[in-house]
Amino acid sequence: MSVSAVCPGSFDPITNGHLDVVERAAARFDHVVVAVLVNPGKAGLFPIDDRLDLIRRTVGHLDNVQVESFEGLLVDFCRAQGIGLICKGLRAVSDFEYELQMAQMNQRIGDVETVFLSTSPEWSYLSSSLVKEVARLGGRIEGTVPPLVEQAIRAQFDRSG
Ligand code: PNS
Repeated sequence: MSVSAVCPGSFDPITNGHLDVVERAAARFDHVVVAVLVNPGKAGLFPIDDRLDLIRRTVGHLDNVQVESFEGLLVDFCRAQGIGLICKGLRAVSDFEYELQMAQMNQRIGDVETVFLSTSPEWSYLSSSLVKEVARLGGRIEGTVPPLVEQAIRAQFDRSG
């Protein structure tokens, strides 16, 4: 039996923590769809097409990973893909409360189950928001995101001054 999973998120932009979870999911599931939320109410640093491009270039070495965007409910995206499993990373207990709520809601409204991978300890402090803040304020983000993402973040802040 082939098992597929959806790894959803905002990915604004993808970090080494995200990559760790996607790589480990790809090693354990037959097929993984990275699903990037299109949130019309929140512009973010990168437009959706740029996020997709950065993720695709970052996961290019993983043959069984596909990268797509979605709007609306995650469970509707899962249904459209024919996938009944969400896979997410858990960094800390502080993540757990909200993630559990979402998992239970997705189970209820879409009969979609969620499995959690514990984030590798080296990335447990990492978030896209923190990386962006550090970069915006001139700090070093080297090693927290893939090199091509680091370049893209720098370019984005150079553009915006
Ligand atoms: O990277 P993030 O921002 O933590 O990802 C959150 C995401 C995209 C997984 C979550 O916000 C989501 O699933 N949004 C889609 C809308 C939806 O289905 N909402 C109901 C969740 S129970």
